[in-house]
Amino acid sequence: MSEADLRRALEIEEDLYEFPWTLGNFRDSLRAGYSCWVARDGRQLIAYAVLMLAAGEAHLLNLSVAAHAQRRGHGRSLLNDVVGVARERNAKVLFLEVRPTNTVGQRLYTRYGFRQIGVRRGYYPARRGREDALVLALDL
Ligand SMILES: CC(C)(COP(=O)(O)OP(=O)(O)OC[C@H]1O[C@@H](n2cnc3c(N)ncnc32)[C@H](O)[C@@H]1OP(=O)(O)O)[C@@H](O)C(=O)NCCC(=O)NCCS
Repeated sequence: MSEADLRRALEIEEDLYEFPWTLGNFRDSLRAGYSCWVARDGRQLIAYAVLMLAAGEAHLLNLSVAAHAQRRGHGRSLLNDVVGVARERNAKVLFLEVRPTNTVGQRLYTRYGFRQIGVRRGYYPARRGREDALVLALDL
C-alpha cells in the first residue's frame, strides 16, 4: 500500500464499516512503517490489510475486501499472504480482534486456524455504547 492507494482504500473502508478507519489511521499506519498491503483486480484496488510487527508478535489491524469482490477467495488469500509476511519476520503468533457480531470475519479466521484467547471489554465503538472484541490468535 502506498499513499496513492489511500483514497480508494478509504472509500472501501467507509462503505464496509459503520465505524471506519479515517484517512489519518491509514496514513499513520504507513508512516509508522506497519506492513500495509493491497490486492488488485487488474488495476483496481479491491482489498487491503494492515499488519503491525513487533518483537516476536504480529497484530492484524485491518483486513477488508470491497463488497463487490467478496466471497471470491480474496480475503483468505490476503490473510494467507500476511501470515507469510509475519512468519518471514519471525513472529511466533498473530493476534487480531473481531467483533462478536462479525460472524463472517470469525468464520474466515476460525476456518483458517485462529483460536479465541480472550475478550477485550468495550473495545469497539457501537451504536449504543461500546462492543466487546474477541481476541483471536494463530500460532505461526
Ligand atoms: C471478512 C472478509 C475479509 C472476508 O473476505 P472474502 O474475500 O469475502 O472471503 P473469502 O471469499 O476469502 O472467504 C473466506 C471464508 O470467509 C468466510 N466467509 C466469507 N464470506 C462469507 C459469508 N458471506 N458468509 C459466511 N462466511 C463467509 C467463509 O468461511 C469463507 O470460506 P468458505 O467459503 O470456504 O466457507 C470480508 O467479508 C470483509 O471485508 N468483510 C467486511 C470487513 C470485515 O469484517 N473485516 C474483518 C474485520 S476483523
